[in-house]
Amino acid sequence: MLDGSNILITGGTGSFGKKCAKSLLDRCQPNRLVIFSRDEQKHVDMARNVLPPADYPQVRYFVGDVRDPQRLTTALRGIDYVIHAAAMKHVDIAEYNPQECIRTNIGGAENLINACIEANVKKLVALSTDKAAAPVNLYGATKLCSDKLFAAANSLSGQHGTRFCAVRYGNVIGSNGSVIPFFQKKRHEGVLPVTSEQMTRFVITLEQGVEFVLKSFERMNGGELFVPKIPSVSIIDIARAVAPECKIKVIGIRPGEKMHECMVPQDEARQTLEFDDHYVVQPSARNWCKGDPDYVAAGKPCQPDFHYSSDNNSEWLSVDQLRDVIDRHCPDPSGRTDTKPAFKVRRAA
Ligand SMILES: NC(=O)c1ccc[n+]([C@@H]2O[C@H](COP(=O)([O-])OP(=O)(O)OC[C@H]3O[C@@H](n4cnc5c(N)ncnc54)[C@H](OP(=O)(O)O)[C@@H]3O)[C@@H](O)[C@H]2O)c1
Repeated sequence: MLDGSNILITGGTGSFGKKCAKSLLDRCQPNRLVIFSRDEQKHVDMARNVLPPADYPQVRYFVGDVRDPQRLTTALRGIDYVIHAAAMKHVDIAEYNPQECIRTNIGGAENLINACIEANVKKLVALSTDKAAAPVNLYGATKLCSDKLFAAANSLSGQHGTRFCAVRYGNVIGSNGSVIPFFQKKRHEGVLPVTSEQMTRFVITLEQGVEFVLKSFERMNGGELFVPKIPSVSIIDIARAVAPECKIKVIGIRPGEKMHECMVPQDEARQTLEFDDHYVVQPSARNWCKGDPDYVAAGKPCQPDFHYSSDNNSEWLSVDQLRDVIDRHCPDPSGRTDTKPAFKVRRAA
């Protein structure tokens, strides 16, 4: 579907955007791939180190802000498919600067919807987060609003217009500002600060995230929330996997944090279908099309008491497995690999 098409990635210079762009170029031969984000220097770095224009002439480095409707309209001319990854995503920063987070995550989504409809874009997949499910912080709340905007946008665009959907997943291993690089930096101090010994999170690799987003273009009919089945980890096991020699200092849960994350809350169970490797939360109304009956029939409706959260998951990564994933996807920049985990491997619950 994406082969030979014109694709735009908002937030294309971020962790997800760079990996996604490379993956698209490796497998889909897009006619044009537009990388859309604000900071000129990130574009320069990406053009130098990831996708040099000499090797990838189909890539356009387009400086722009999702808060700027006019710039989006210009960027989207002739675009077939959009991946929306631009966001403010740090919980603490969003709590302190709520207006800024709202402008980017909600206002930006609204601008993008209008520009996509105007440009007659075929499909858009937006990246959401587990923090948007029953949110307790501003970041999650803005992503929930953005998810709702994208679902409702299918009504705005009408029967033959742009189809919008969202993908919801958990912490990306090694992404900008995430806990593994943080622990790796702290390792030399001999003590790692851990919020709580009970805390759990969903984890996914960047490659899996990209793969899942690209698959969603084929699966979507508009308005769905696609949720991959991914493993859980306990935060303390991440600390043990990164630096088993370090002491752990429990610092307490931070404002706006949950002990466990949720991807499908119980209240959404009635709308949720289970597939082999993912769930789909169906839109509550679908007045733009009937949906693909074959795809829906292949899914198993979830029980009314179903919920999918990081503490009730059936799939867990042990410390050994985590170390393996970290070595492959987020190696310690200091090159330290001299430790062995001194902990028992936890079996799937
Ligand atoms: N990382 C995770 O663990 C995780 C988990 C679940 C979901 N997600 C979601 O995945 C998406 C991508 O995350 P990521 O880890 O790739 O984040 P990232 O590395 O911080 O990248 C964010 C990208 O968005 C751009 N951006 C920010 N504000 C913008 C604006 N106003 N207009 C245009 N571009 C803007 C940034 O570039 P400039 O600052 O230069 O504009 C950057 O290219 C986000 O929507 C996030 O909510 C991430």
